[in-house]
Amino acid sequence: MVLVSGSGTNLQALLDAATDPAYGVEVVAVGADRPAITGLERAERAGVPTFVRRVGDFGDRAAWDADLARTVAEYQPDLVVLAGFMKLVGQEFLARHGSRTVNTHPALSPSFPGMHGPAEALAHGVKVTGATLFVVDAGVDTGPIVAQTAVPVLDDDDVESLHERIKAAERSMLVEAVGRMAREGFTITDRKVRFGRE
Ligand code: GAR
Repeated sequence: MVLVSGSGTNLQALLDAATDPAYGVEVVAVGADRPAITGLERAERAGVPTFVRRVGDFGDRAAWDADLARTVAEYQPDLVVLAGFMKLVGQEFLARHGSRTVNTHPALSPSFPGMHGPAEALAHGVKVTGATLFVVDAGVDTGPIVAQTAVPVLDDDDVESLHERIKAAERSMLVEAVGRMAREGFTITDRKVRFGRE
């Protein structure tokens, strides 16, 4: 199960990888917090069921979160991948799916959490940044780290060129790590995420 908010290039990388049975992953559904986005089109093109849950259609954020959690549960996913999902999930979602939900973030955690990872890395003047896949917890991009990938920041980068370089590395990282989580399982001990079953 993948949740998206935008262009869905990370989702596409997973959909492409999942066409090979040896990859061991089936994308059972794609959900979004807004309609008419390329991410949803990608899912439809791949024949994957989709759903949309807009915060504005619910009385409050908690009601949205509970409905999202319920909807995700209907698909009984082993893993929930937030791939460019621009909403924080809430208490109910975490209670039901927290231990199997991963998020990909365009920075090297714990640096530059939040919505503007590439812009903040550029503004800070770091020479290396990247992407982080982590198990979601109640914080903003603070959960146990599954995988990271680094890319250089070049002198003539703007936010867009830097984010595109990050995203290219991010997609490979995501495909590799999600495949391993699905095929091998994973454990979390004192924040350390390890592939393999206990
Ligand atoms: C990715 O770089 C992802 O890390 C980022 O949005 C991009 C989505 O691209 N997510 C966040 O910033 C979450 N805070 P995509 O829609 O093409 O996969």
